[in-house]
Amino acid sequence: MMLETEVTVDPAIQAALFARVRRHTGIAMAERKWTLLQGRLRRRLQALSLSNYGDYLAVLDSSNDEVGRFIDLVTTNETSFFRTPRIWDYLWHGFLPAWHAAHPGDALQIWSAAASTGEEAYSLAMLCEEFREKHPDFRYRILGTDIAAGVLETGRAGHYLGRNIDGLRKVRPAMLEKYFLGVDEVYTASPMLRAAVNFRTHNLYQRLEEPTRFDLVLLRNVLIYFDESGQETVLENVRQSMSPRAVLLVGESESLNRLRTGFAYQQPLIYRNDRPPV
Ligand SMILES: C[S@@+](CC[C@H](N)C(=O)[O-])C[C@H]1O[C@@H](n2cnc3c(N)ncnc32)[C@H](O)[C@@H]1O
Repeated sequence: MMLETEVTVDPAIQAALFARVRRHTGIAMAERKWTLLQGRLRRRLQALSLSNYGDYLAVLDSSNDEVGRFIDLVTTNETSFFRTPRIWDYLWHGFLPAWHAAHPGDALQIWSAAASTGEEAYSLAMLCEEFREKHPDFRYRILGTDIAAGVLETGRAGHYLGRNIDGLRKVRPAMLEKYFLGVDEVYTASPMLRAAVNFRTHNLYQRLEEPTRFDLVLLRNVLIYFDESGQETVLENVRQSMSPRAVLLVGESESLNRLRTGFAYQQPLIYRNDRPPV
């Protein structure tokens, strides 16, 4: 079957698909991203035996299951353990000791707010476990959320292999040894690590329906996919789930400087909640 993917696709259909990306994820994709979007959807059309994108739109608009698959396909889920070394140095040398000293007896509440396959959440858990070895009264809880249900399955299973395990072996070989069990090529996060992290789906364009106020939120390498007004909406939603003076960490290429938010700049990539929740 000759797929429409091989011939020119009607610009109105392209625009409708971009609109669905925005409606379901908030991701702002410009027209120049058509090749990317097409590349991500092509196999799905083949799997559904559809020959054109108009028919795919009809399926998408009539099926919640298909919306879930669409979200899995259109999101970019790249991540790694201990991504951006200076974040982890800050957490280890700055944030954790200061927070622990200021909150004796409390449990640190952490949210990895675009967790993808879970490497960020498990990096946090490893760091917290190491900190707990030095401070046995330290307690913590980590929530990992993402809009894409598919990647969260990897997080829940805690199974990793390939490039991301090679990366962990390179930067923290002792942690790989201590917190993962390797069988053949597959490394599984220890039960202790998995017990420390909960994963669930959540769209950042909505408020998190959870009474917990987080002391530390990692919202990293996800704002870049939204336009400015989307970034402000998402940041305010996230801020509403943070305790006063809680810390927000963003990704290397992200900055809140030009946005209207309730956060105050601390250092590059590091912000503080500057306002009480409303
Ligand atoms: C590039 S990954 C970043 C992973 C990790 N935070 C890191 O920095 O390595 C971006 C993640 O954001 C998620 N995402 C995109 N739009 C979202 C939304 N509206 N709500 C929640 N998560 C979203 C994607 O599914 C993807 O897993």
